[in-house]
Amino acid sequence: EAHPRLAEIMPSLIRHLHGFAREVNLTVAEWMTAVEFINECGKISNDRRNETQLLCDIVGLESLVDEITSKMLATSSLETPSAILGPFYRHDSPLLPNGSSIIQKLDPSDSWYEQAMADSAYITGRVLSSSGAPIQGAIVEVWQSAPNGLYEQQDESQPEMNLRGRFATDADGHYAFYALRPVPYPIPDDGPAGRFLRLLDRHPYRPGHIHFIVSAHGFRALTTQLYDDRDEYIAKDAVFAVKDELVVKFVPRDGDRTARWTLEYDFVLGRE
Ligand code: DHB
Ligand code: FE
Repeated sequence: EAHPRLAEIMPSLIRHLHGFAREVNLTVAEWMTAVEFINECGKISNDRRNETQLLCDIVGLESLVDEITSKMLATSSLETPSAILGPFYRHDSPLLPNGSSIIQKLDPSDSWYEQAMADSAYITGRVLSSSGAPIQGAIVEVWQSAPNGLYEQQDESQPEMNLRGRFATDADGHYAFYALRPVPYPIPDDGPAGRFLRLLDRHPYRPGHIHFIVSAHGFRALTTQLYDDRDEYIAKDAVFAVKDELVVKFVPRDGDRTARWTLEYDFVLGRE
């Protein structure tokens, strides 16, 4: 007996696939090109690279299912909106003390080190319930790319778990850490997903962003991203993941040699 959800999903998927093929008069040769394309995405995917997810993302599918899922689960309009996970999440990032840095000590000869330190940011705020009560012991998990546009697992020159960390909120629900003001960068475009973008005359850039998963006992975990309002790609994200409420302002920071910018942001979680 078919799984009930599959029994609902599959006939619709098949109907739409058939409808699509009829609508565009899809030929055998064109279908075969698509099969080979998907095979190629699978073949180059591994722990460090998820080309099939990338393909879904550039056609807006991950953003769409994120939107559908959050609409289904949200219980209050006060909750912080979710955003896509993206392909570069890693489990087991280090649990760091509040107020410490996710920028790991690097070889100062690293090409992006100077630039990184010149654009570092102190990021702080609270984790709240939708009634405004602070949540103690919430885990704020964060990850971002280096200024060279690469996440740590894509880049031999970065130490393991660089620019990743988890922070636990204090009794007032506060979290704080040092990170980088994010920069726009191209999604990996040296494979089939990149070819696809070029065929459609599209650029591969995402606006600068910082990824978060915020979780706490009794609350639904929030997967989201924050976007820098100075970024020219805000309105043309290659993977369609920007939401207005997630666009933030970094303000100049005085009297802190470790960071040039401050970002304050409160996350509001919904009950489980
Ligand atoms: C995608 C998402 C990201 O956050 C990122 O850094 C690169 C790619 C994506 O949706 O494919
Ligand atoms: Fe990302």
